[in-house]
Amino acid sequence: MTTALVTGANRGIGRHLASQLLERGAKVYAAARRPETLDLPGAVPVALDITDPDAVAAAAALATDVDLLINNAGVSTGATLLGDLGPVRTELDVNFWGTLAMVRAFAPVLAANGGGAVVNVASALSWFAFPGAGAYAVSKAANWNMSNALRLELAGQGTQVTSVHLGAADTDMMKDYDGDKTDPATVAARTLDAVAAGELEVVVDEWSAMVKASLARDPREFYAGFLPA
Ligand SMILES: NC(=O)c1ccc[n+]([C@@H]2O[C@H](COP(=O)([O-])OP(=O)(O)OC[C@H]3O[C@@H](n4cnc5c(N)ncnc54)[C@H](OP(=O)(O)O)[C@@H]3O)[C@@H](O)[C@H]2O)c1
Repeated sequence: MTTALVTGANRGIGRHLASQLLERGAKVYAAARRPETLDLPGAVPVALDITDPDAVAAAAALATDVDLLINNAGVSTGATLLGDLGPVRTELDVNFWGTLAMVRAFAPVLAANGGGAVVNVASALSWFAFPGAGAYAVSKAANWNMSNALRLELAGQGTQVTSVHLGAADTDMMKDYDGDKTDPATVAARTLDAVAAGELEVVVDEWSAMVKASLARDPREFYAGFLPA
């Protein structure tokens, strides 16, 4: 039996993660900034903005039986690094600092429950940058290497840390994108299967696998399509 807390459980990938965990027999704390927007019968609703230190502490004090923390909540503002710094900071506040705050608050809870696991939903954009998504790419690169570092820091208490990478999923975040999109239910199922199998990284789709492989090559090759000739 798993007891999970999922952030951003009211919509998108987070909602699928929470509902599939319920289907798999887990107890689920469904966390959302506005708990009235949750539609997950059987879950325990939790009001949680991950950038609010008091709310993060209250969630950790409430959900003391958690052995699976899923940091799914994230934002994508379209901010560029040379534009207004406000949304750049917002992306880092949620995708990096808020996620780290959750792990810091729940690390003792996970230790007390046998170690358990942390899942951080990163992105294929952990491994590349895309025009118009500079701040998001930086925040997801930080999220990815945060997972690597936390894996080392939490190894002593037996906590598994898994990072999830995907290109485009069919959620509100990508509503203006016309290309191929993975069903968020598939993202959730692959993530939960991988965590159960003890995997440390979930490369959800072919795009993410291609981007990851490109890191071993000359960046000129990968970025040729984005740069002026
Ligand atoms: N969709 C994609 O193609 C894609 C690709 C790669 C990675 N991802 C990542 O997958 C995760 C889920 O994204 P999604 O596609 O499901 O997006 P989504 O439909 O836009 O959902 C984002 C979720 O995060 C929550 N959230 C945002 N800021 C928060 C905060 N400060 N505290 C707590 N919750 C907060 C939102 O809550 P509200 O309803 O209150 O706004 C919402 O529940 C994100 O980390 C995203 O970066 C998505």
